[in-house]
Amino acid sequence: MTSNSKAKASSDRIRKIEGGLRGASGGAASTGFKGLDLGTSHLVLATVKDDQEHYQKELHAFVSIPYSKMTKSMLEREKIQHRVQRPNIIAFGNRVDEFANILGGSTRRPMQTGLLNPNEPKNIELVELALRSLCGKAKPGEKICFSVPSPPEGNESMLLFHEESVRSVLEGLGYKVRTINESLAVVIAELQDFDFTGIGISFGGGMCNVCLSYLGLPVVTFATTRAGDYIDEASAAVTGESATTVRLRKEDKDFDLFTDDNPSSIDRAMSIYYREVIQTVALSLERVLNNTKNLPPFKGPVPIVFSGGTSLVGGFQKELRKAIRKTSLPIEISEIIPAESGLNATARGALVAAMLEG
Ligand SMILES: Nc1ncnc2c1ncn2[C@@H]1O[C@H](COP(=O)(O)OP(=O)(O)OP(=O)(O)O)[C@@H](O)[C@H]1O
Ligand SMILES: [Mg+2]
Repeated sequence: MTSNSKAKASSDRIRKIEGGLRGASGGAASTGFKGLDLGTSHLVLATVKDDQEHYQKELHAFVSIPYSKMTKSMLEREKIQHRVQRPNIIAFGNRVDEFANILGGSTRRPMQTGLLNPNEPKNIELVELALRSLCGKAKPGEKICFSVPSPPEGNESMLLFHEESVRSVLEGLGYKVRTINESLAVVIAELQDFDFTGIGISFGGGMCNVCLSYLGLPVVTFATTRAGDYIDEASAAVTGESATTVRLRKEDKDFDLFTDDNPSSIDRAMSIYYREVIQTVALSLERVLNNTKNLPPFKGPVPIVFSGGTSLVGGFQKELRKAIRKTSLPIEISEIIPAESGLNATARGALVAAMLEG
């Protein structure tokens, strides 16, 4: 099966399931739709071209430095995305880290813990800059679905502001816009063989998002705010290293959780905070599910599928299994499996949801 036929097959399958995704209607073609994972650390755009799914990933970060002709021509020569906003130049996208190191600018992040960053005064302007470049203007009738997190407890009003602000940017580019919960998107992308019934967890940079889905309907969704950025910051604080140094080590292929007998202080700190992030998700899942009345009539044990950049580290699956095993859940878990497309699952689920709106 080609990757395109998987997205199309997922949208067809959901339609067939009684009660499927809320708002699903009509027949889907495979072009004229985009799925956008609007993440704290990365943006991922899923599109379909020539019967194949395509994924484009950008770092969701910016560097602002004083304008000079020399800097501008350097950026052009190096093909680094940028916009002149005198008296500054704002560079953005995948090579921002490198650029920040060369020119000594500090990296700015328009989002924090899954939502627009309240400490970045130009948050929505920066998001607009990135989305204009990544998504471009819509063709007539083109639809886009973007992912939104579950609001952290007590921050529901922040989610509304975030969602409406981003929606108006995308509508300004001409798209017909809908949203999907990030972890429901993971279920839609990965659990087709289970009739979209199970638990999807996205371990991201700013948040871990969790959804228990029954036939593609979100029964329970929630998020925790200890994720990749927390591991970086907490490990940096106890080792005296910078959060960037920690992050680069964390993303190094050689780093595994709890495998080294004599780990460096950074590796030890990261393993400890990783365990905390995983346990926080497992304990929250236990608490939230046990507090949920009237769970649907699951016919048997359900799978957990996990995705997101934070889940890519060696030893992650083992730690997650261990943490889930220690909990006492009101439903039985059959297996705990990694997403087929760790960094693309949310964007793929959003693409399927956009097709359902067709
Ligand atoms: N290969 C890797 N190994 C370990 N960690 C990684 C790897 N690649 C990325 N990460 C970490 O994953 C996190 C980003 O994950 P992801 O791109 O899924 O988040 P996001 O979707 O942007 O954020 P969120 O969902 O929280 O809004 C960062 O903390 C990054 O350091
Ligand atoms: Mg994410």
